[in-house]
Amino acid sequence: MDSSSRVGSAVSGVAVLAGLGSALPAQVVTNHELARRLDTSDEWILSRTGIRQRHVVAPGQSTGDLAVEAGARALESAGTDRADLVVLATTTPDHLDPATAPQVAARLGLGSVPAFDLGAGCAGFVYGLSFASAMITSGTVGSVLLIGADTCSTIVDPEDRSTVPIFGDGAGAVWMRVGDPAENGAIGPVDLGSDGELAEFIMIAAGGSRQRSAGGPTADAGNYLTMNGPLVFKNAVERMSSSSLAVLERAEWKIDEVDRFVGHQANIRILDAIARHLDLPRERLIVNIDRVGNTGAASIPLALAQAAGDGFLTPGHRLLLTSFGSGAAWGSAVLTWPDVNVR
Ligand code: ACO
Repeated sequence: MDSSSRVGSAVSGVAVLAGLGSALPAQVVTNHELARRLDTSDEWILSRTGIRQRHVVAPGQSTGDLAVEAGARALESAGTDRADLVVLATTTPDHLDPATAPQVAARLGLGSVPAFDLGAGCAGFVYGLSFASAMITSGTVGSVLLIGADTCSTIVDPEDRSTVPIFGDGAGAVWMRVGDPAENGAIGPVDLGSDGELAEFIMIAAGGSRQRSAGGPTADAGNYLTMNGPLVFKNAVERMSSSSLAVLERAEWKIDEVDRFVGHQANIRILDAIARHLDLPRERLIVNIDRVGNTGAASIPLALAQAAGDGFLTPGHRLLLTSFGSGAAWGSAVLTWPDVNVR
């Protein structure tokens, strides 16, 4: 049977997270190394962001390469070699066209399953979780491989001290299947939102149809990401706080029932501010920004994988996930932590 024909054949239920894997490029760049080539310091970066180091891709290594690595580990973690659908959340696809997800699916040996890229900036993983969960809950598919992967180092101006220190590269993937709402790993309600009025706060101006229709790509301005840091900071705190409260209300969870809070790892001061807004004890925060920086759509699954590896997640723990990024787009979700062998 052609694997694509399995779409639509699953029984309905809820989505359950049953596999988790991650991938980081081998090269680590510390703040001290950055300070040797940019007008910055370890003290500034660490105190303003909480970042000590980031991983950076080797020449020629792509988002798709990291996605394949993380995806393979998620499948191995779940003990399967199948997925009915592949969703790749990314802002840094291998090419402007085609989407990267079909190549990732093919390289993983998943056959002719549906596969597409999802562009919601750093909120892409939570958007993907919502979509995957709806596809499973509706009975459209029985399993989904959801990957968040970004090579943010490829979109920052190497001379720009306001963006280079913040971003890093990586990938995280989850495998989800149809299951029971009472099972550990069950995905609960989600809350998603966007505000296009904030589009210019984080933008790569060049390369898209607006520029191409006006004369095509140029070699100079606009090819790199620009960001209004302070405005992004303020909106990130507001939106992730309000979205977290909205999803908790939908789940009928109180804040003190949340065992672990997994916020988008953009800045430790953003995470601390949200914790204060939510009245959440700091010990419940999952933090790995010091090790990887802001890895875009990979941020949340990477944080989950590292926290699981550190023994900071226990089956049955109640998790609140929240993210904010370019668009602006944001989203929050809740789940219970499964008994899963993380790869
Ligand atoms: N080293 C030393 N000084 C620096 C550096 C650096 N690396 N970067 C900026 N500065 C300087 C600035 O030039 C400025 O100097 P001035 O006062 O003389 O003008 C000063 O530090 C303060 O700059 P701010 O931008 O106001 O610094 P801030 O405290 O806001 O920190 C930061 C900047 C880290 C970017 C912060 O605003 C932030 O984290 N914003 C949110 C980013 C985010 O969440 N992004 C997520 C979405 S990204 C996505 O979706 C792809």
